[in-house]
Amino acid sequence: MSEQKKIPVILDGDPGHDDAIAWTLARACGRFDILAVTSAAGNCGIEKSTYNARRICRLIGIDAPIAKGCPQPFIEPAMNAPSVHGESGLDGPVLPEPDRPLSELNAVELMAKVISENEDPVTVVSTGPLTNTAAFLLAHPELKSKIARISLMGGGISTGNWTPAAEFNILVDPEAAKTVFESGVPILMAGLDVTEKALIFPSDFERIRALQNPVSDIVSAWLEFFYIFHKSIGYAGAPMHDPCAVMALIHPEIFRMQPMHVDIETCGEYSRGATIGDVLGLSGKEPNATVILGVDRDAFADYLVDAMKFYGEAKKA
Ligand code: RIB
Ligand code: CA
Repeated sequence: MSEQKKIPVILDGDPGHDDAIAWTLARACGRFDILAVTSAAGNCGIEKSTYNARRICRLIGIDAPIAKGCPQPFIEPAMNAPSVHGESGLDGPVLPEPDRPLSELNAVELMAKVISENEDPVTVVSTGPLTNTAAFLLAHPELKSKIARISLMGGGISTGNWTPAAEFNILVDPEAAKTVFESGVPILMAGLDVTEKALIFPSDFERIRALQNPVSDIVSAWLEFFYIFHKSIGYAGAPMHDPCAVMALIHPEIFRMQPMHVDIETCGEYSRGATIGDVLGLSGKEPNATVILGVDRDAFADYLVDAMKFYGEAKKA
C-alpha cells in the first residue's frame, strides 16, 4: 500500500499536560509533517507555556521552529489554570531543558511563514485558547485559502467546564474564538461532548508505563498527574481533551461527527464563552464546523498506547 502523504501541521497550544500528550501523539503517529510549534497563553502564562513547549519538543524530538504566541487574550485579562496543571503549567516529571533557541518570529509571523511557504494547505491543530489562530487570520486573510482546516480542542455543545456554559479554551478568549468560527476556514471541533468520553483509565497508564521507554515513562506520569485532579472532581479517568484534536485527524473512523453551525457567545452574563451548536439545524445557517460528539473509547486508548511504542523504537535506532 502506498505510504500516506504526511499532513503538514502547525501545533498551537498552552502546554498543559493534555497538550503535551497531544503533541507526543502527533510526533509518534508518523502521519504529520510538523512545520511549527506555537505557544499560547492559557493553562499558564505565555512565558511558562513557551518554556514548556520547548522542553516537550526536546523530549519528543520535534525539531520544527517554536514561536512565542500572544501574551494576552483579545479583550479580557489572561486566565490560567494552576489548579489543574500546577504553577508551572506542566507540574510532575522532570523534563529536559530546551536545547535550541526560540524562533525570532512571533507565533503569527511563524504561522504566516510556514503556511505561505508550504506547497500544500496546512492544518492548524489548536489545543489552547484561539488567540494566536485568530490573530493570524486577522493579520493574514490572504492566507486563509492555504489553511486546510483548524482541528481544535474547545467548546462544548452540551456543557461547559470552567463555567456551566463555557469550556476553558473558548472562555479565555471568546472574541478570538468568534473570529475563528466566523472565518470560513473548515473547523474540526473536539469539544467536551467527545473529550469527556475519551477517558484514559489507570489501567491504560499502566500499559503505557509498561513500555518502559524514556517518553512513555513521562507520558504515564503526566496522565497520572492529570487524573489525580480529575478524579478529585468525580471523573473515572483522565479526559484526553487535546489528544482528541490530533486523534480525530489520524483515526476519524473511531469518532462520531456532525456538521453544525456553531456560534460563540461573547456577551452573556452567564453564558460568555459558550459554543452554541445548532444541533437540529433550526437556524437555517450553514454549518461552519464539524463537531465531534462521540468516540470509541477503547479504540482511542489502544491507539494512544500503541503510539507510545514509537519512542522505544526511536531509542533503539
Ligand atoms: O478545557 C480543556 C482545555 O483547557 C484543554 O485544552 C486544557 O489543556 C486546557 O487548555
Ligand atoms: Ca490545552
